Amino acid sequence: MKTLISGGTVITAIDTVKADVLIDDDTIIAIGAPGTHNWADEAETVIDATDKYVVPGGIDPHTHMELPFGGTYASDTFESGTTAAAWGGTTTIVDFAVQVKGESLIDGFDTWMAKAAGNCAIDYGFHMIAGDINEQSLADMDVLINRGCTSFKLFMAYPGVFYSDDGEIFRAMQKAASNGSMIMMHAENGMVIDILREQALERGETDPVYHSLTRPAATESEAVHRAIVLAELAGAHLYVVHMSAKEALDEIAEARDRGLPVFAETCPQYLFLTLEEHLASEGFEGAKYVCSTPVRKEAEGHQEALWRGLETNDLQVVSTDHCPFCMDDHPVLGTQKRLGVGDFTKIPNGLPGVEDRFQLIYHGGVVEGRISLNRWIELTSTAAAKLFGMYPKKGTIQVGSDADIVVFDPGVSWTKSAAGHHMDVDYSAYEGKHVQGRVETVLLRGKVIIDGDEYLGETGDGEYIARDTVSIDH
Ligand code: URP
Ligand code: ZN
Ligand code: ZN
Repeated sequence: MKTLISGGTVITAIDTVKADVLIDDDTIIAIGAPGTHNWADEAETVIDATDKYVVPGGIDPHTHMELPFGGTYASDTFESGTTAAAWGGTTTIVDFAVQVKGESLIDGFDTWMAKAAGNCAIDYGFHMIAGDINEQSLADMDVLINRGCTSFKLFMAYPGVFYSDDGEIFRAMQKAASNGSMIMMHAENGMVIDILREQALERGETDPVYHSLTRPAATESEAVHRAIVLAELAGAHLYVVHMSAKEALDEIAEARDRGLPVFAETCPQYLFLTLEEHLASEGFEGAKYVCSTPVRKEAEGHQEALWRGLETNDLQVVSTDHCPFCMDDHPVLGTQKRLGVGDFTKIPNGLPGVEDRFQLIYHGGVVEGRISLNRWIELTSTAAAKLFGMYPKKGTIQVGSDADIVVFDPGVSWTKSAAGHHMDVDYSAYEGKHVQGRVETVLLRGKVIIDGDEYLGETGDGEYIARDTVSIDH
């Protein structure tokens, strides 16, 4: 069954060309100058992309569907979260399977595979959160690589929950260096943060804004520095997740300038939200923006530094860290953000974004003149495919790649609102924001799953992606 996308401008991380794209079943089989062939005769479906961009489907390498956190669960299931992702132009996620203390890595992985299987609207893979590093966990890292899980997240934050000490981190890094996997790091000094939180509460500082004020930039930059030193000693590839502080980004830039295989991502919340305007909102409203690392003070210049890092490739990826919790009671999960009324340390950490990212980065990046069209695609799709072992099956438009394609209309402007989104959460972190450019059509391996205002996919369209080990060094 053949599909033709005709008359559009095809944008990849390296090229911008007017071209037609021919798909056979789930694969791109030809790309050619418009009007120089008779592909329309052989195609059962023709999608007119005149005046539109034809781009690779977004890849979000950092989501947390159904994550247990702070006494509740992230409100999006694999079904609702991946459907919302599709609406936003994302055709692949890499979520995080969780190993809890006392559990084996393999059991944690199997549990998360079972949650996702048959429930995803788009393709999915897993990183593994290693929450209990011991001899068996280290041996199991090799087993998981053979099952397509080639990256492991460790936490320098959240003592008593996901936290690993430096020795455990170093052992895992040595293992990663020997088996070619990627170490992903939540880099915040959790021990120091816990003391600052305790002292804030003792002073009666209980509002959501204290979440950020008790996680100063130095707690992030110190941890990033330490992670780099440990990774260099171990000879491991390092990918630092959800970067928010300019001082932490300086550490990444310095390591990359020395040629180390060190990579990093940021997320829309750090590029668009601020402590002053959002986290410090009246009453308990700021809880909507509680995540870790935290949203920081605009006056300190973090946002400009992060955008500059995206432009200069000190940062390689924009993910979401999608981890939504409702402000008012969730129909099934009950109280979520409001668990932290009167005590900011009890607010579940995380916010929604999987549906927002692709279009927000187009608006803030391309429309507002910070990055090129090609860099938009590199940051939201191609780089993640390369870093996490999915390229060129995913992350580009070329012959032989999966036909994960978005037809994007740069001419539409619209206003973001929870009233129109598909994530299972009762607020939008970007409520009322006007953006230019909108996802029009989404193909997942050749199947049209979004067509304008219509969802044409089915639960279970998404397939598990067994990923390769990391193949790039810089
Ligand atoms: O606030 C966050 N980031 N929640 C999700 C868990 C994590 O640390 O990534
Ligand atoms: Zn994290
Ligand atoms: Zn996360």
